[in-house]
Amino acid sequence: MLLKGAFVLKSAESGIERLDVRIGGGLIKDTGILEPLEGEEVFDLSGKLIMPAFYNAHTHAAMTLMRGISDDDPFDVWLFKKVLPLEERLDGEMVYYGTMVALMEMASKGVAGFVDMYFFLDDVAKAAEDMGMRALITRGLVDENGEDGGRLEENLDFARRWKGSELIEPGLGPHAPYTCSLDYLKRIAEAARDTGLPVTIHLYEAAWERERYDFRDILSVFEGIHLIIAHAVQFTEEEIKELTREELYVAHNPSSNLKLGNGVAKVSRMIEKGVKVSLGTDGAASNNSLDVWHEMRLAALLQKMEDPTKLGVEDALRMATEMGAEAMGINGGRIEPGRVADLVVVDIKKFHYMPPENLKSHIVHSGSSGDVFATMVNGKWIYFDGEFPNVDVDEILEGFKRSVERLYNRS
Ligand code: NI
Repeated sequence: MLLKGAFVLKSAESGIERLDVRIGGGLIKDTGILEPLEGEEVFDLSGKLIMPAFYNAHTHAAMTLMRGISDDDPFDVWLFKKVLPLEERLDGEMVYYGTMVALMEMASKGVAGFVDMYFFLDDVAKAAEDMGMRALITRGLVDENGEDGGRLEENLDFARRWKGSELIEPGLGPHAPYTCSLDYLKRIAEAARDTGLPVTIHLYEAAWERERYDFRDILSVFEGIHLIIAHAVQFTEEEIKELTREELYVAHNPSSNLKLGNGVAKVSRMIEKGVKVSLGTDGAASNNSLDVWHEMRLAALLQKMEDPTKLGVEDALRMATEMGAEAMGINGGRIEPGRVADLVVVDIKKFHYMPPENLKSHIVHSGSSGDVFATMVNGKWIYFDGEFPNVDVDEILEGFKRSVERLYNRS
């Protein structure tokens, strides 16, 4: 297909040009001033901007079921008293519909892929496939007295069944060093080495975690493994350089970290030191929106709180796009021939995109996810002009409603 007439931002560091984009076989084929080929489907996107899609590098998608249940509690009350007891009651159908609602929200906000840590992985994967969205899916792994209740085996089983599928990438999801023993983390790392699966873990989110374990022990367990660490709020200036590793990605979740009172990660220092920082929303029970665009602006503003020269427009854009793609192991994040066709089309005929000369700045500092006109994943539209071409929205909303009623025991 040919996307004609739009302005194009090829990557975080490039300028904005008037270009056409040719898509084929799930990839970006060509950019330039292009004429349609015989039989080619043409989309007129005049008055729009095409840019690389956003990626949500840390979430628990099905937590849309718990959105708004605990807005004003401390982190430990939120987690241990409110969230965990409800999660005990979840089943596959609830997780499917909770995830589907998350994916509709994310697709309508320009997100092409997400990293998930949850349960009922087949249902998460089915939701992502039904929507046509990319997903790196992991099971939340915890152990108690050396027993994990078969969770790791379940995660590995899922990985065996789904590895090699087009949009789904399985991974392993140790929840956190305070819910996993060091021996268990070693077992998980061994499994990751044997299978080549990526790993994601919550690390140094709350201040009290520093008293429970040393991050160096955890990083050394996962040495050489593709690792996404969510939060990384509590690292000191001196410790940050230890996060500079080829295979290590930080997923920065500014809204969740503020809302749960955990603080602000030193992400501009991380970026200066060469740490690869992507963006996440965390689950809808702690954010409460799954809006990477919003996280991008908030991330920039939080770093500017103390020094306005920090976290410029290009760094913010790169975190939200290319770094997220890299964290997910996807050859995306840039509009270049040979890269995957994961794109966002933005309606820029709005007052807050004036003057057009500074469009790139507007994307970070005055635009919003409400301006998303379309989202493409792997060369296919998953959201276009208010519609979701792959899903029956009414059926999903009905299923979601039923799931909420069952989860809260109202039916
Ligand atoms: Ni999380």
